Amino acid sequence: MTEPLIEVHDDATALATAVAGALVARLADAQERGEEPQVALTGGSIADQLHHQLTRLGNDHGTDWARVVFWWGDERFVARGSDERNAGAARAAFLDPVGADPGKVHEVPAADEVDDVAAAAAAYATTLREHGSGEFEVVLLGVGPDGHVASLFPGHPALDDEGIAVAVTDSPKPPPQRVSLTFNALNRARAVWFIVSGEAKAEAVAKALAEHPPADPHEVPAAGVTGSVETVWFLDRESASKL
Ligand code: 6PG
Repeated sequence: MTEPLIEVHDDATALATAVAGALVARLADAQERGEEPQVALTGGSIADQLHHQLTRLGNDHGTDWARVVFWWGDERFVARGSDERNAGAARAAFLDPVGADPGKVHEVPAADEVDDVAAAAAAYATTLREHGSGEFEVVLLGVGPDGHVASLFPGHPALDDEGIAVAVTDSPKPPPQRVSLTFNALNRARAVWFIVSGEAKAEAVAKALAEHPPADPHEVPAAGVTGSVETVWFLDRESASKL
């Protein structure tokens, strides 16, 4: 387990710009070592800003987007064409414009493609088992005001699931049905990067980073994910205001 590093930026735009720069540099480095890095993307509003900045950077740092493997930490269980789908938003704003290889973009099945959310979670787990490298280079995670990450919500039974991907049927954040990677899967990461913006998250950030006593991941799920090489909290001034 690594000690968390904290990086505070002025506002959401500066935050998204910094994370985009760090990500392209890290992926280019991994590719220079001859690796094909695997990244888990996040959903949510800060992700939209991050995608915009990543597209703006394109391959400025030498990142070959066609040699990056993409996953999602979680997905909303809605129809493929829904605006709410994390993958749809990421494809339109980032993956398609930068030229990601569709064969290396692994989406959670949509609600109009499988029987139910449990089937979507099972299929996604199988895909990760078959096409995952066993370790993400980077897991990106937005954080909710309640401290949730991916679709792992405080007090929810999904927190104790020991598989790879879990179905959530009563998410407090809409839509109610979701598929999430488990703690077990999210923790197989070299780098875990939290990206958190806004005053509404300040309490959750402070709780997740509290040292005495350390946060219980059942109460603050963000405290349950760390990278084997680094864990970085990318914050803006507002989300860092209670540290
Ligand atoms: C989702 C998520 C979720 C999100 C956080 C933060 O699909 O809803 O992946 O975990 O990242 O709720 O979202 P915001 O950046 O919009 O606050």
